[in-house]
Amino acid sequence: MKRLGILLSGRGSNYEAIADSVDAGRINAEIAVVISNNPMAKGLQRASERGHRAICIPSKAMEREAYDRLVVAELRAARVDLICLAGFMRLLSAYFVNEYPQRILNIHPSLLPSFPGLEAQLQALEHGVKHTGCTVHFVDEWLDAGPIIVQSTVPVLDSDSVGTLSARILEQEHHIYTEAIGLVLSENFRIEGRRVLRIK
Ligand code: GRF
Repeated sequence: MKRLGILLSGRGSNYEAIADSVDAGRINAEIAVVISNNPMAKGLQRASERGHRAICIPSKAMEREAYDRLVVAELRAARVDLICLAGFMRLLSAYFVNEYPQRILNIHPSLLPSFPGLEAQLQALEHGVKHTGCTVHFVDEWLDAGPIIVQSTVPVLDSDSVGTLSARILEQEHHIYTEAIGLVLSENFRIEGRRVLRIK
C-alpha cells in the first residue's frame, strides 16, 4: 500500500477530502502522516481526531532549508511515497524538492499560470476573468510553478464575491485532488517538457 504524507497550514478541507477518498477506496493508499507548520491549524486537530498521525513542526523564525530538513526527516520516518501539499503556506527549498522528485503535489485555487500566489480567487475577480478554477501540479522550488496534472474550470458569475467564488472553486479542488493523486499513484503518465501526459 502506498503511503501519503499531507502538509497543511490551516483549515484542512483538502486534507479531509483526501482522507474521505482514502476511506471510500477512491484513493488506493493510506495516510501515513499529517504535518503542519502552524500549531493552530484546524486541519491538524481534525487529523488527530480522525486517527491519523498528526505532527506539528513550527516554522516560526526557522531558516527555510533547516526547517525542510526536519520535515523531510519525519516524512522519511513515516516511509511516505507521495507528498500532498494541502494549503501548506510555505515555499519548499531545493533540498526538499530534490529529495522527492515528481513526488510532491500542490493544489492552487486558480487556472495556473494565471494568478499564482496568495488570494488567487480575489486576483481572478479583480482581473475580471469570466472563468477561473483550480490546478493540481507537481511542485518545484518556484511558487505554483511545476508541471500541471489536473485542472478544473469554474465560471465567474456577475453576482460572485470572493466568498461565493472560493466556495465553488473549493468544491472542484476536492474532486481534482483525488483524481490527480490517483493518476500519480497509478504511474500511468509521463512528463514531456512541462506536459503531463496519460499513457493509459
Ligand atoms: C485551498 O484553496 C488551496 O487551493 C490553497 O489553500 C487552500 C487550502 O484550503 N492552496 P484547505 O486548508 O485545504 O481547506
